[in-house]
Amino acid sequence: MSIAKKIETTIAQSSWIRRMFEEGARLKALHGPDKVFDFSLGNPNVPAPECFEKALNETACACCGEHGYMPNPGYPHVRRSVAAYLSQEQGVAVSENEIIMTCGASGALNVAFKTLLDPGDEVLTPVPCFVEYGFYADNHGGVLKTVKTHPDFTLDLEALADAISPRTKIVLINSPNNPTGQIYDRQSLMTLGALLREKGAAYGKTIYLISDEPYRKIVFDDHAVPSIFACYPDSILATSYSKDISIPGERIGFAAVNPAAAHRGAVMNGMALANRILGFVNAPALMQKIVACLQGTSVDVGLYRQKRDLLCQGLAAAGYEFVTPPGTFYLFPRSPIPDDVAFVRALQEERILVVPGSGFNGPGHFRIAFCVADETIVNALPGFERVRAQYR
Ligand SMILES: Cc1ncc(COP(=O)(O)O)c(C=O)c1O
Repeated sequence: MSIAKKIETTIAQSSWIRRMFEEGARLKALHGPDKVFDFSLGNPNVPAPECFEKALNETACACCGEHGYMPNPGYPHVRRSVAAYLSQEQGVAVSENEIIMTCGASGALNVAFKTLLDPGDEVLTPVPCFVEYGFYADNHGGVLKTVKTHPDFTLDLEALADAISPRTKIVLINSPNNPTGQIYDRQSLMTLGALLREKGAAYGKTIYLISDEPYRKIVFDDHAVPSIFACYPDSILATSYSKDISIPGERIGFAAVNPAAAHRGAVMNGMALANRILGFVNAPALMQKIVACLQGTSVDVGLYRQKRDLLCQGLAAAGYEFVTPPGTFYLFPRSPIPDDVAFVRALQEERILVVPGSGFNGPGHFRIAFCVADETIVNALPGFERVRAQYR
């Protein structure tokens, strides 16, 4: 083979989400798109807010002739705008010097990992978790280590305390969580902060807390996502506008380093270099200018809440068990049989496409991405019910 063995193997083991996507394409060609209920991809279906389209048109007209390189962390005026909003959101004074604009949240995570990881360093993350984390750690010589959560997917701080070792460089959390929709509360984050201080002192090193928050604004009812900066000084926030304003294809996000971080300057310098040498160079220029005007904006989250309620009511009536997600557009029900892959195959017989929990290090469950049309949910419910009835 002419390509690297590692890539060859990774392609061969291609992710469940990718496999479901391909299965969806096959079924849609066979039965017609409206006969397939595709809940496999986390691709937002709620339209971007009107103000985004307006800012896009105005900015595109206004910046003719302005297409040069810029400082690797991004335009200073954009970072100032992000910092001003973040200061309110986090309750901590953040400046442009702590912000680096990135190609989405994944760009932010890769830039942070490249900056922090030495070969063999461990990235510890609670599971179930986003499937790409293992690849991102591996990209930069790190090793992803997983740690269990409680049955309702909240942080198991005892398990985390046991899992932290002298090799731990990063603890990576994702709240609201993909695939569970769970949010970690302030008390558990404060306790996690105290634990990282204690372990860091014991091992004579800085352990970084990275909070991956692309779903921060997709929260329902009275739920809110606590500020990570208030909980632990050596923290980095990685996020994007992908889900907030439904623009994942535009690849725009940012990383923010806690102003109280002990090595803030070195980390920022490292991340600026990493942005360049990973080949991103800088985040997309046009999108930077647009998001600078849209701080605090989000899609109509009520539309996702309506979809969540529709799905949860239907699945509960059919006898499924799940934690009602306080955020995101994912539901992570328990599989009625231990073999989640077999259960997902049974749903496929009804042309319902979901992803096995095993794909997220959460076996015994499956993920439904409910960022789909309401009719897709309504029309899929009888199929969900029939398959549930087979396993009583
Ligand atoms: C938990 C999590 N982190 C990061 C990302 C990547 O986000 P982006 O598209 O902004 O890079 C995703 C995308 O689905 C995600 O679910």
